[in-house]
Amino acid sequence: MTAVELLALPDLELFARADHSCRATFGPSVFLRGLLEVSNRCVRDCLYCGIRRSNSKVRRYSMGDDEIVAAVARGHEAGLRSFVLQGGEDPDFTPDRLARLASRLRQRLGEDSALVLSFGTMHKSDYQAIKSGGADRYLIRFETSDEDLHTRLRGSPLARRLSAIDDLKALGFEVGTGFMTGLPGSTEESLAADVALAASIGPDMIGIGPFIPHPGTPLGESEGRGLGPALRAVAALRLLLPEANMPATTAAGSVAPDGRERMLAAGANVLMPNIGPVDAKRDYELYPGKICLDEDGLSCIGCLSIRAMTVGKRLDRSRGDSPSFERRAALARSRESGPRAEIAGRHNAEAGRHNAEAGRHNAEAGRHNAEAVTHSPDCAQGA
Ligand code: 5AD
Ligand code: FES
Repeated sequence: MTAVELLALPDLELFARADHSCRATFGPSVFLRGLLEVSNRCVRDCLYCGIRRSNSKVRRYSMGDDEIVAAVARGHEAGLRSFVLQGGEDPDFTPDRLARLASRLRQRLGEDSALVLSFGTMHKSDYQAIKSGGADRYLIRFETSDEDLHTRLRGSPLARRLSAIDDLKALGFEVGTGFMTGLPGSTEESLAADVALAASIGPDMIGIGPFIPHPGTPLGESEGRGLGPALRAVAALRLLLPEANMPATTAAGSVAPDGRERMLAAGANVLMPNIGPVDAKRDYELYPGKICLDEDGLSCIGCLSIRAMTVGKRLDRSRGDSPSFERRAALARSRESGPRAEIAGRHNAEAGRHNAEAGRHNAEAGRHNAEAVTHSPDCAQGA
C-alpha cells in the first residue's frame, strides 16, 4: 500500500495493523537509548526551534568532553547499550573534536554499545572521520519534505539535508531520519509526502514528533496540531518499513500525558530517556512543556518500564540494531574480506532472514506473555 492509502485507513485499523507488524519484528521489546543533549548553542536560526540563535532568552551551555564521557559511563553502568549525543550546530563541536570524543567513548564502551551522533549536516569527509573514531549511527531528520517550507523554516535547502543522508548511508552508518508533523501550512497531502519521503530513504531509524510552538520563536503564535498526525505517520511508516527502529518521542509525551504509550501502541519500539544533567535538560528547550525535566534520566527507566507494560511491551537495554542494518553490515564486512567471504556473507544474510522469521514466531509467543503482564493488577496501578 502507498503512504496515501495507509493514511486513508481509519485510525484504529491503521494502529492495530502497525502494532501487529511491530510485534512481528521486535516482539514486545522496547529498546532504550540514553540521550545526552550536549550543547544548546546553535549557529542556525530555524523558525520552529526554541534554541535558535536569535532566541536571546536561552541560557546557553555546552558540555565538556569529560562530563560527556562520565554521563555515558554512568548510563553504561546502568546497563544501557545505546547512546545518542545530540546538540545544536555548535562551532565548538568541530568534526575533529567529535571524532576524538567518539574514539574515547568507544574505548570506554567497548563494542557491545551503539554510539549515535546527531549534529546536523557536515562534509562527507567529516562524517567519515567520526565513523572512523567509533560512531556507528547518525540521526538527521529532514523535518519536512516540502522544499519551499523547508527553505523558509531552516534557511537551507532540503536537498542539502538529503545529500547528507546519502553520504551517511554510503559510509555505512546506521542512519536515522524523520520529521515533525503539524508544521504551519501542513496538510493531509503533505503528511503523506513526508511519510513517502521517509520511506523512500529506507532509513534504519525514524523519529517523528508533533511540532510544538515555542513562544521564543517566529512560529510561537501558530497552532500545534496535537498528537494525531504523528501517531498516524508512525503507524504508516511501521507498515512501510517493518524493520526500522522508531522511538515513541519526547515530543509525543509532551503534547499528551500518554503520548509515548500511544505511539508504542501504534508501531513505535524505542524509548529515549534523557540521561543528561538536569540543568542541561531544562535549557535544551526546543519546545515548551518538555517532559521528564526534573528527574535523573536513569531513574526515569522505572517509569518507562511501567509505561511500556501498559501497552504489553517491555524494556530491552541491548543495542537493538535494526535487522535490515545487521544484514547490510554483514554483507559489507564479507565484501571487505574477499569474494569467498562475500558468498558466506550472503548465506549469513539469508540465515539472518530466517532468524528474523523465527524471531517473528517468538515475538508472537512474547506477545501472549506480555499481554499476561499487562493484565496484572500491579501494572495497572503503575499506569
Ligand atoms: N517542536 C517539536 N519538535 C521540534 N524540534 C525542533 N523544534 C521543535 C518544536 N518546536 C525537533 C526537530 C529536531 C529534533 C531534535 O527536535 O525535528 O530535528
Ligand atoms: Fe539549531 Fe535549527 S536552530 S539547527
